[in-house]
Amino acid sequence: MRQLLDEAAKGGYGVGAFNVNNMEQIQAIMEAAKETNSPVIIQASRGARSYSQDKYLYHLAAAELYPEIPLVMHLDHGNSFETCKSAIDLGFTSVMMDGSLMPDGKTPSSFDYNVSETRKVVEYAHPKGVTVEGEIGVLGGIEDGHGAGGSGLEHVTDPDQAVEFVKQTGLDALAIAIGTSHGAYKFTKKPDGSVLKMDVLIKIHKRLPTTHLVMHGSSSVPKDLQDVVNQYGGKLKPTWGVPVEEIQLGIRNGVRKVNVDTDNRLAITGAIRKVFAETPEKFDPRDYLKPAREAMKKVVAQRMMEFGQAGHAGDYKPIPLSEIAKQYRQPALV
Ligand code: G3H
Ligand code: 13P
Ligand code: ZN
Repeated sequence: MRQLLDEAAKGGYGVGAFNVNNMEQIQAIMEAAKETNSPVIIQASRGARSYSQDKYLYHLAAAELYPEIPLVMHLDHGNSFETCKSAIDLGFTSVMMDGSLMPDGKTPSSFDYNVSETRKVVEYAHPKGVTVEGEIGVLGGIEDGHGAGGSGLEHVTDPDQAVEFVKQTGLDALAIAIGTSHGAYKFTKKPDGSVLKMDVLIKIHKRLPTTHLVMHGSSSVPKDLQDVVNQYGGKLKPTWGVPVEEIQLGIRNGVRKVNVDTDNRLAITGAIRKVFAETPEKFDPRDYLKPAREAMKKVVAQRMMEFGQAGHAGDYKPIPLSEIAKQYRQPALV
């Protein structure tokens, strides 16, 4: 992933990191990448790994079907050194050590704990050519079990701490908290600067111009996707996500990895509900999984174009892992 993010920084674009739990989601992403000629980050949370017994998911990412597409397999929100180690040992090429929270995924941790856990992961990962994302500041919400609760403004990243954290850990990519949270219920109206702290992101980028920034909780939760779910019997309450133009502002200010899960969940659920509502006589899973996969592919392809990664699959010359390991044996300090 380091190679991918370095290239994205040179080209001034962002790369979507899409969560997966099953084959159809992986296919949707790979087909969207093929259609738009994009490099790809597929990410699996701890929940996804346990849902799929780990190895199923790993083998489902059939990279050999897409030799022209650079593909990163990334662990999302690793909660401990052991979780990150097991992903690396399985073959993930990138891991997130989320030491902003204690291993329970809810309790905010101390700065020193975060540094020492993240540093440990960097020391294990880099000699193997594996990339490490860390997080400083804490996301709000607890919808999916990663977050400290609250509005998301309680633990916005402090730029001074971000600089110190990057120096002390030697990580490759830095996730920051700027008021977003995971899941569908991020904001109660279109967010402005009082709840979505793009000014903080810009400050951090000015202090750390060569550090790749990561935006979590970046689903836009578009009204049209909400409407399909509700039109066919869903019960989503009115809600707002992160507008694409704010993400694009982030990309102009150092954001290289953009995490999206919820928008794809909404697209899949809307498509399945539609089939169930319109053709209740059907019971072949392919009858609803195909439109679901297609609906997710459409969202992913759109984001790939909006984030700017479309057209960039060819930017990458394969580097053997041993070479990457040599390059990053010493944690890359800014
Ligand atoms: O970080 C959150 C992602 O949306 C993954 O969610 O833990 O429910 O798989 P999950
Ligand atoms: P969303 O819930 O906004 O899609 O965020 C996903 C995410 O940040 C995964 O780490
Ligand atoms: Zn996240």
